[in-house]
Order: sequence, then structure tokens, then C-alpha cells
Amino acid sequence: MLSDNKKIASGVPSYFPLEGRTIILGVSGGIAAYKAAGYARELGRLGARIIPVMTRNAENFITPLTFAALTGEKVHTRTFDMEDAHEIPHISLAREADLMLFMPATANIIAKAAAGIADDLLSTLYLAYSGPAVFCPAMNPVMYQHFATRNNLDILRKRGHMVADAEQGDTACGERGPGRLASWEHIRETVIRSLTLQNLQGMKVLVTAGPTRERVDPVRFVSNRSSGRMGYAVAAEAWRRGACVTLVTGPCSISPPKGVRTILVESAADMARAVQSEAETADIVIMAAAVADYTPESVQETKIKKSSEQLVLVLKRTHDILAGLLQNRRQGQVIVGFCAETGNLKERALEKIRKKPVDLLVANDVSEPGSGFDVETNRVLLLDRDHNVQRLPLLAKEEVAVRIVDRVSALLD
Ligand code: CTP
Repeated sequence: MLSDNKKIASGVPSYFPLEGRTIILGVSGGIAAYKAAGYARELGRLGARIIPVMTRNAENFITPLTFAALTGEKVHTRTFDMEDAHEIPHISLAREADLMLFMPATANIIAKAAAGIADDLLSTLYLAYSGPAVFCPAMNPVMYQHFATRNNLDILRKRGHMVADAEQGDTACGERGPGRLASWEHIRETVIRSLTLQNLQGMKVLVTAGPTRERVDPVRFVSNRSSGRMGYAVAAEAWRRGACVTLVTGPCSISPPKGVRTILVESAADMARAVQSEAETADIVIMAAAVADYTPESVQETKIKKSSEQLVLVLKRTHDILAGLLQNRRQGQVIVGFCAETGNLKERALEKIRKKPVDLLVANDVSEPGSGFDVETNRVLLLDRDHNVQRLPLLAKEEVAVRIVDRVSALLD
């Protein structure tokens, strides 16, 4: 577990979603075992304690010493280990675990788990364990697409386990197709989702994020400094809670979160169209985007030349998407607004919630150090329907997202 000193490096809070969790890492025999070693280290950096359990075949690809060095834990390989003769490892390990992560998962361990065969330590451990499990298949594409493997993965899904589907690409056996171990981001998100309370399961959540770009001529636009981080973190958190998430995003340089359906838009008008259509079926709408309030009255078809000393750009108001949503709000739909200010935050946020009566308003002062644009942290006020104000401390944007989604979930109760 990470100490408090490590948690706050140089005054900037970081976010450790797996803090204090114990994960049994089941490594079975495939070449992707070497990638699993790197991912195990990353999971440890997110705060998890990783206890590796390797099959005999896995030891043909990578040594237990590698996993021991990267996790700082003893690596378990045999059902009856004479060193710990007083303990039955499959029972004691099963009691300690919050999650069993099969990475990589071969067709063989997937089949054994689906059928309940217990003929070595890893498969026995699975039968002696009753918590959440994540399977990360990696194998030859023909084996992966074989009816038997697909059927076995379906059995595991129906049992409530999660699968980080293998990805397309060149596999170590020289074939092309699905079978490569999922990416680190995909596995990380699936692990976090499997350990998160699924209190938004079945909910359709629409999130907007990022800036919009308003075209001036073919080479120029008017925009703002939003990085999209806050909205992307909210979308990721809603997905971790089991929601079906659509992210409508303006141009951002960061990658959209895994599992989230993403609609890329450019201007405020594009965003308005996408949001209006998606909001019709959304249970929750979270408007984190920094939508342009003004757009050029007309877009020049050719590049504006520097012919005069001054250039006057005439801008017109854009449609206020959030105001429109509030007017046409469906019964029971929860709507969250954001409010970016520079000074007098509480007063201005109260003014905004009176004008736009959202269920929750997230307000921040973008001129404050550590808050707002292009930083990884934020300090926000949360205002509810009754105008009660909750002040959150400076937190990582991912943690602010957890607090926002907590408040949204409470509104559904
Ligand atoms: N918003 C919107 N459509 C716009 C402008 C803003 O939907 N054309 C939404 C934002 O996504 C945010 C909320 O309205 O959720 C508040 O945005 P903000 O820019 O802080 O305030 P405005 O209402 O635009 O007012 P002002 O800029 O005058 O503070």
C-alpha cells in the first residue's frame, strides 16, 4: 500500500483507485506473459497488492523471479508447497483476494474456469474463490475465434465476470487477427470497473467535454483552453459504475476513455445537434464541455489576407445547449451543468443555478492555481437544486469525477 507521503508528491494529489485492494494475478502459459509482468507493476503503482500465481506452462515463458521482483510478493506455483506446509495456499489466497485477474488467459484456463476443472493451483484457486474475476484472453486468432473458446467466455460473462477482449493485430504465432492481449488502458479500466460498485448499471449517461472550435476561415478558428480532462474523467467514472456512456467531445489531444462511445464534434452547432439527439434517450446528461458562447457571424471561404492594420471579427451568440435541454427535460432526467468563472465563484455559481436550474452545478475558478484548464487537478464547488454549496478540496480530476458521479447517483435513489 502507498503511504500518504507518496500520495501527495510535490503538493499535487494523485489518484489511486486500487489502493488497498488485493489482486490474485493468474498467469497462464502464453507469450503475452511478458506483457502481463509490466502491467502487474502498473497495477501496483495504482495502489493494488498483486499476488502472482503461475501455471507450469507460464514458467516456460517467464520466470517466477520476474513477477516476484515486479510485485514484491512471493510467487505461487504449486498446490502443495512444502515451504508453507502449515497452510493450504488455495484456501488462504482465495480468502485474501478482492479480485482474480487472469492475465494472460489461455484457451485452456478459460475452458477450465468455465467447466470448473481444478487440476492445478490456479484453477483450484478459482473454484475456492467466489468474488469478481477478470479474464484477459491472449492466444492464436483461430483458437480465440473457435466456438469452444467464445462459448466458454460467454459462460464466464454470464457468471458475472468481466472480459478484456483480445485485440486485433499480428500475433506471436505469425497470424493476423484478434488474439493479442488487450492494451494496458483497456485492462486497467476493466479491473477498476470490476471493483467498482455498479450503481449506474443499465443507465444511459451522456457527457460533453472539451472546447468547441468556431471557424473563421479555412485556416483559423476561435476556441478556448479546455483540455477535456474533466469531462473525460466523468465519462470514465460513469462507465466504471456500469453505465452505458456516450461522450460528445470537441477537439482534444487526450484519448477518449475505454468502453465509452465517442462522438467527435467541432463547433458549438455540431455539439448542439449531437447532444439534442442523444439526450432524448439519456437518463443523465453531464454538460462538462466549454461550449463557445459566440461564433463568427460568417465564415470566410478563402484565407483572410493581412490587408489592413485592424481586423474586426463580428461574432454572434451560439445556441445555449444546456438551457435548451432544461426546457425540454424528460421526467426523471438528471441534468448536471458546469460553471467556469474567474473570481467571485460562489456568487456567480448561485446566479448561474438560478438562471439554469440544473440538478447539480459543478463550479470552478479557472484563474486559481491547480484548477481549471490544462491541469490534472481541480478545486470545485458543488451546488444542488436547493442551492446548498459543498466545497471540495484540491483533488485529482479523476477524484473530482468520483465525487460528482457519487452525487449524481444519490439523486437517482
Ligand atoms: N453551455 C451550453 N451551451 C453554450 C454555453 C454553455 O450548453 N452555448 C453550458 C456549458 O456546457 C456549462 C454551462 O452551460 O455546463 C455553463 O457554461 P459557462 O460557460 O460557465 O456559462 P454560460 O452559461 O455560458 O455563461 P457565462 O459565459 O456568461 O458565464
